[in-house]
Amino acid sequence: MSSGDARKTAEGLTYLSGFGNEHASQAVPGALPDGRNSPQRAPLGLYAEQLSGTAFTEPRAHNRRSWLYRIRPSAAHPAFTRVDDGALRTGPFTETVPDPNRLRWDPLPEPPAGTDLLAGLWTLGGNGDATQRTGVAVHLYHANASMERVFSDADGELLIVPEHGGLLLRTEFGLLHAEPGEVALVPRGVRFRVDLLDASARGYVCENYGAPFRLPDLGPIGANGLANPRDFRAPVAAYEDVEGPVEVVNKYCGHLWSATYGHSPLDVVAWHGNHLPYVYDLRRFNVIGSISYDHPDPSIFTVLTSPSDTPGLAGVDFVVFAPRWLVGEDTFRPPYFHRNVMSEFMGLIEGAYDAKTAGKGGFVPGGGSLHNMMSAHGPDRETFDRASAAELRPQKIDDGLAFMFETRWPIALTGQAAGADHLQPRYDDVWQGLERHFRPSDGTLH
Ligand SMILES: [Fe+2]
Repeated sequence: MSSGDARKTAEGLTYLSGFGNEHASQAVPGALPDGRNSPQRAPLGLYAEQLSGTAFTEPRAHNRRSWLYRIRPSAAHPAFTRVDDGALRTGPFTETVPDPNRLRWDPLPEPPAGTDLLAGLWTLGGNGDATQRTGVAVHLYHANASMERVFSDADGELLIVPEHGGLLLRTEFGLLHAEPGEVALVPRGVRFRVDLLDASARGYVCENYGAPFRLPDLGPIGANGLANPRDFRAPVAAYEDVEGPVEVVNKYCGHLWSATYGHSPLDVVAWHGNHLPYVYDLRRFNVIGSISYDHPDPSIFTVLTSPSDTPGLAGVDFVVFAPRWLVGEDTFRPPYFHRNVMSEFMGLIEGAYDAKTAGKGGFVPGGGSLHNMMSAHGPDRETFDRASAAELRPQKIDDGLAFMFETRWPIALTGQAAGADHLQPRYDDVWQGLERHFRPSDGTLH
């Protein structure tokens, strides 16, 4: 399909609304059984199959599973054989030792022609262990071809953050459209293919080995705010009835395996459940902040969280720095200087970030920075000087869209990230020249 046809398809999509809902959808009337999951004979000659995203026994509030009614059961597949992992790496990450230095990368270079999104994935680093279902991998991608093959990831869910180029995701549950500024989530084990809607596509992927992302609790914020559940969009059922060879690639415990099916596995005619792919527009994020002084910790910007087994300690949080007003009185308004027990990978979707001077060699869209556990970071000198002298009128921050994957464990780099040509050599320089201003005898009381 041409990118023009794919774009027309993408722009005509309809969705179901709501995060974590028990949704149901059928592409053919009568395909969804009524009142039971696995009747003696499923309607229309379909096969019934359950896909479990959590253990059967997990608490109801966190349980994720879906029932799929498909032309052939997933069990009807030939043997998988190992194929090259390309630039994909998986935890445990042992190629390098965790680095206490602040690190920053320029965007990935242009890939060879014919690079699809799977081949375009390049692992920067991560933590945990996919086989233990803990931790996270941080990937960048740069692709210039639509996928002919189908992919699924048994190791974790994929939070895709486009920075350049629209995506049309064809999943077992139906079609999703994600443009830069939106994010798409493909749950563990869900098979999908990605068509590019532009000549190339670039962005970020958080591969979460841990508990599925959920909305954070709101506490005293109340019943509304941050990412509102109704803004998450799930697909409606759509299926491919294709007989003929289709390559299916399965990422399994850190390695890629391939099999050529005799049919498309995107053959789900109806489904119901809550283990579902979805998209979310980050511009819908309801930003909460201070209306007196100081600003809250950036956890107030959490879109989605994957809790670990310790309450309050996320395996990974997905955090967005969306357009917002700054009105704090007697307040240093950019993000403060910080040393954090958590580890922070930041990316930029568009524009600039208010703690960093933008431009070539700086923090640019498609690039990324890593401030690992306890590494000191904060505004650069130019930003500090400007913000310390600024007149504190109400100020709209609306020239950028940045995000963070924040994780409880240090991120170890892959060898390719540690040795990359696009790793900036002099990132530390941005904090040079932060001069001493201490004058103990000037009489000012603080
Ligand atoms: Fe920080």
